[in-house]
Amino acid sequence: MDTGTEGRRTLIISNRLPYSVRQDGENLSVEPSVGGLATGLASYYQDHNCVWVGWPGADSGTLGEKGMEEVAAMLEERACIPVFLDADEIGAYYDGFCNSTIWPLFHYFHTSSTWENVSWEAYQQVNRAFCEAVVREYRPGDIIWVHDYHLLLLPALLRRELPRATIGFFNHIPFPSYEIFRILPWRREILEGLLGADLIGFHTYDYVRHFTDSVRRILGYQHTSGEILTGNRLVKVDTFPMGIDYTRYSGAVDDPGVREEAARLREKYGGRRVILSFDRLDYTKGIPQRLRAFDLFLQRYPEYRDGVVLIVVAVPSRTAVREYRTLKRQVDRLVGEITGKHGTIDWAPVRYLYDVLPFETLVALYQIADVAFVTSLRDGMNLMAKEFVATKHDGLGVLVLSEMAGAAAELGEAIIVNPFNTEEMVGALKDALTMPENEQVRRNRWMQERLRRYHILHWARDFMQRLKATKTRQRELEAS
Ligand code: G6P
Repeated sequence: MDTGTEGRRTLIISNRLPYSVRQDGENLSVEPSVGGLATGLASYYQDHNCVWVGWPGADSGTLGEKGMEEVAAMLEERACIPVFLDADEIGAYYDGFCNSTIWPLFHYFHTSSTWENVSWEAYQQVNRAFCEAVVREYRPGDIIWVHDYHLLLLPALLRRELPRATIGFFNHIPFPSYEIFRILPWRREILEGLLGADLIGFHTYDYVRHFTDSVRRILGYQHTSGEILTGNRLVKVDTFPMGIDYTRYSGAVDDPGVREEAARLREKYGGRRVILSFDRLDYTKGIPQRLRAFDLFLQRYPEYRDGVVLIVVAVPSRTAVREYRTLKRQVDRLVGEITGKHGTIDWAPVRYLYDVLPFETLVALYQIADVAFVTSLRDGMNLMAKEFVATKHDGLGVLVLSEMAGAAAELGEAIIVNPFNTEEMVGALKDALTMPENEQVRRNRWMQERLRRYHILHWARDFMQRLKATKTRQRELEAS
C-alpha cells in the first residue's frame, strides 16, 4: 500500500522498540515487545522503508559493553537502533517521569502523579540521548516520526539540530483537558517540546481540542482549523484514530494452530459462555471495577452460575512502579474473593492469568469469547477492542466497551458503558449475554467494515500524507 512517502525512509522513534532483550543466564536474545504501540506499528514498519530507534527494555549496566554490542547487532538485522538506558535512567525517566508523572496525569489520575525534579532531569536527559541517536542516523530526505508520551520534548530538540527536517509526532495516550494538564509543573516545556513537530496527531478530536486549548491558554498561541502559528512556524494538529492490522487478526482465525487452540479451549470451558478481560495490568484499565461488576452480576443473576466464565488475562507491566504492584495485589485478592464466594467444586467463575500470551492463544481466546469486557477508566484508544471484533468471522460476539476509551468514538455499535457505574456494567453483561444473534451480527458487520477500511496502513498513510501537506503549506507561507 502506498503510504504517501514515495519510498523515503521513515525513522520511527519510540521509547520501546518492537523487540525487547531477553536474558536467560548468559544467553541474550530479542523477542517481540508487548503493548499497543509496538504491536500496532509493527506491520507498518516491517513492510516499509523504516528504521526504528528506541529502548530495547534492558538495563545497560547488566548487559555490559559486550552485551550491548551483541544486542545492537541482533537489532540491526531487524532495522532497529537501540538507545540504551542504565538503571538510574530507567528508575527516574521510565518508572519516574514517564510512568509516575505523565502516565497518571494524562489518564486523569493526577492524585497518583508525583512531581520529582530528579525525574524531570532524567526525562530531559533521555530525550536528549534520543535526539543524539536520531541525529546520528538521520539522512536528508528521511521522515522522522516520534511516538508517545516518553518523548514529548524530542520534536523541539530535533528541530534545533535539524531545522529543515520533516518531523511528525503521534500521541498514543489521551491528552487531558487543560484543567488537568495545567497541574504539571513543566507544562510550558512539554508544550514547547511538542511544537517542534510539523504535525501532531491524536486518536480523537477531544484530545486535539484539549491540546490546542492548553497551547492557547498556556503559551498564548491561537489556532485556526487545527493550525497553530508559533511565531514564524506553522504546526498542524489533527485526529488520526489508530487502526489495527485487520487482515492479520481476521486472517489468523483460519490458521490451523489458532483453530486447534480455539477447539481445545471451547472443550475446556465445556459449553459455558465466555467473557474475556484482556489488558496489560494497569490501573487505567479498570480491572477491579470489572471484577466487581462480574461479582454483582453473579449475585443478581444466579441462573448464570456455572454457565459463564470470566477469563482474566493480565499482562505484567511496569512492575517497579508502586501503583502497579498494589493493583496486582488488589486483583489477586478480588479474584480469590469471587472464586470463594460463587465457585463450586466443579466450576471456577474466574480464570486468571498473569502472563504474556502467544498470538495464537490470544486470537483463539478472541474467537471463543462471547463477550469482550473492556472497562478502561481512561484509555487513549484500546486496540484490543478492535482486535476482538476483527476475529469475529461469523459476526457472533458482543463488545462491551467503556465510553472512556478512545475506541468508543468509532465503535458506537458496541454496548457502551460508564466504567464507574457498576449497575450499568451489570446490565451491559446481561444485555450482551442475551443479545439475539442477528443483532450481534448486524453490529459486528458495521464495526468490521469500518475497521477494515481504517486499517493500520491506512492510518499511517493518512498521517504521512498530512505531514507532507503540512510541509507544503509551510513553504507556501514562507514564500508569501
Ligand atoms: C501503552 C503506551 C505505549 C507503551 C505500552 C506498553 O500502550 O502508549 O507507548 O509501549 O503502553 O507499556 P511499556 O511501559 O511496557 O512500554
